[in-house]
Amino acid sequence: MTGGRETMTDQTVVTSASLGLSDDAISASVVPIDSLVHPHVVRRLAGLSSGRATSAASSPEADATMEFAVSVARGLSDHPRRLESRFLYDAQGSDLFERICEQPEYYLTRTEASILSAAASDIAEKTGDVALVELGSGSSIKTRLLLDAYVERFGSARYTPVDVSSSALSVAETEIAAHCPQVDFDSVHGTYDDVFPRLEALSPCMLLFLGSTVGNLDHVETAAFWSRVATHLKPGDFCLLGVDTGEDPDVLHAAYNDAAGHSAAFTCNVFARMNRELGSSLDMDAIDHVARYVPHLRRVEIFGRFLKDQDIEIEPLGHTLRVSRGEMILTEVSRKFRLRQLVPYLCTFGLVARHVYADRDRRVAVLLLERT
Ligand code: TRP
Repeated sequence: MTGGRETMTDQTVVTSASLGLSDDAISASVVPIDSLVHPHVVRRLAGLSSGRATSAASSPEADATMEFAVSVARGLSDHPRRLESRFLYDAQGSDLFERICEQPEYYLTRTEASILSAAASDIAEKTGDVALVELGSGSSIKTRLLLDAYVERFGSARYTPVDVSSSALSVAETEIAAHCPQVDFDSVHGTYDDVFPRLEALSPCMLLFLGSTVGNLDHVETAAFWSRVATHLKPGDFCLLGVDTGEDPDVLHAAYNDAAGHSAAFTCNVFARMNRELGSSLDMDAIDHVARYVPHLRRVEIFGRFLKDQDIEIEPLGHTLRVSRGEMILTEVSRKFRLRQLVPYLCTFGLVARHVYADRDRRVAVLLLERT
């Protein structure tokens, strides 16, 4: 899947630059739950903490549906309206995202893969024999490049992928068993929060956070995320971070509006998921994908745009919300990065860039960070 080996820029980064960060923070307002739902469900919801209902009758599926319902109700009551991007990745969404990654316009995946393929053995040499723990692993295709390098150097490798999609994890497990049998595979089906407490036991380890997924977190979430990483990694552990450093508006616009329409299908899938899981009865022909690059915020904003008035039923909550024609519901933000800001920012969390690998066009960077 790599598009030919690209010239490596193998530079050690000086980490003393200014700490200036852009101020495009997204405010994360939380609507009190009792303002959203009928009184009879308030009590049921009061038992939900990070989505887990405490009722004896609850099943994991019912909990997951309720978590989605609550998130949709909250997000659609926010201003501007938005949906939590993690719900894009159900089984269908994960498949569609794999298609996006194969599109010619979506340079991020293949560029990052070519960087990893060229840098893998150097990374293994620098970290030594560490367990690899991957957040949002998806198909783990890129990670195999790294696993091969660890197996080659150390004879075996330990790999813990973490993903909210159980289907993606089982595909990854089958593929890795077939291609790299020397890998000890132990997956975590869940969110990042589920894996942080396990990191200490996995140390010495390297946390993999690839695909510029960090760009999908807003500023508040980003700071919380890096604090947790810093807390749970031990000094001497590593983090391998892949980020999109692209700047060209036309290239970015094309990457999020691929001609084959997979980006559009991916965005629309979260609304189709509401129909499947929440009984929302949305007319899918009247929802469009919009993705636009906003240069002064250095981010792509992705929306579902409603082409007519529609009522969104959220059956598990007995609640209906009206969305008007022309309204745009934010489904994802994808921030782009400048190394001269990112590297000193990470330093404030005790994560020092030991090495930065980049492609010739400087569209993607892979940072080898060490917890100091
Ligand atoms: N994590 C991906 C990114 O930020 C998400 C993504 C890629 C995406 N293409 C998309 C989300 C199209 C919605 C629509 O690049």
